[in-house]
Amino acid sequence: MFNIILFGPPGSGKGTQSEELITKYHLKHLSTGDLLRSEINSKTPLGLEAKNFMDKGQLVPDEVVIGMISSALDENPDVAGFLFDGFPRTAAQSKALDKLLELKNTAIHVVLALEVGEEELVKRLLNRGLKSGRSDDANEMVIRERIKEYENKTKLVADYYQQFNKVVTVKGEGTIEEILSNLCSEIEKRMS
Ligand code: AP5
Ligand code: MG
Repeated sequence: MFNIILFGPPGSGKGTQSEELITKYHLKHLSTGDLLRSEINSKTPLGLEAKNFMDKGQLVPDEVVIGMISSALDENPDVAGFLFDGFPRTAAQSKALDKLLELKNTAIHVVLALEVGEEELVKRLLNRGLKSGRSDDANEMVIRERIKEYENKTKLVADYYQQFNKVVTVKGEGTIEEILSNLCSEIEKRMS
């Protein structure tokens, strides 16, 4: 298996680039944001709990997302690898993920960290909010709160993986094709 974390702040292009990468490398896309939004749409108890946090731009509790990822790993035993998007987002999630992968005799091979300036992030998300229907894109206050959560709780996930020399930063501004090409070259350096 080859497992990737696509890391970066809200609006940095994780979802956009994931779509391309999973097709190219036959990976299973695991986006905790997408999984949570699907729980909300199905009005499950988990979704209703998560919605309270997501609408405010705050992180959902660790045990909720770790449980979801654990189930998703069990449900996909025969994949070429996983592409984690929006997970892990805290130190506790990183440690839990390492343990879950170890149980499956695998590990994270690379953390690709997209770098985008704050004003560009806000611009992209406000623009998407015009038609995405995502409640957390609807106003600038919530968008800035998401970025604050990233700065305070999520950024240190990169430090965690840095101690194992797994982090590569990639410029997240430019055309989608340029960014994709840089991501692919980093992946292919490590795949062989
Ligand atoms: P989540 O769904 O993960 O959202 P996010 O990280 O806030 O970021 P986005 O999905 O909005 O951005 P993205 O980086 O995927 O960028 P995209 O490609 O869409 O999380 C939502 C919420 O769920 C969290 O706030 C939290 O409450 C909860 N949650 C999720 N995971 C959790 C976890 N592990 N722990 C706890 N809570 C969790 O691009 C954005 C826009 O920019 C798009 O319109 C796109 O078209 C555009 N764009 C993309 N690339 C470019 C480019 N190169 N140039 C110009 N525009 C571009
Ligand atoms: Mg996303």
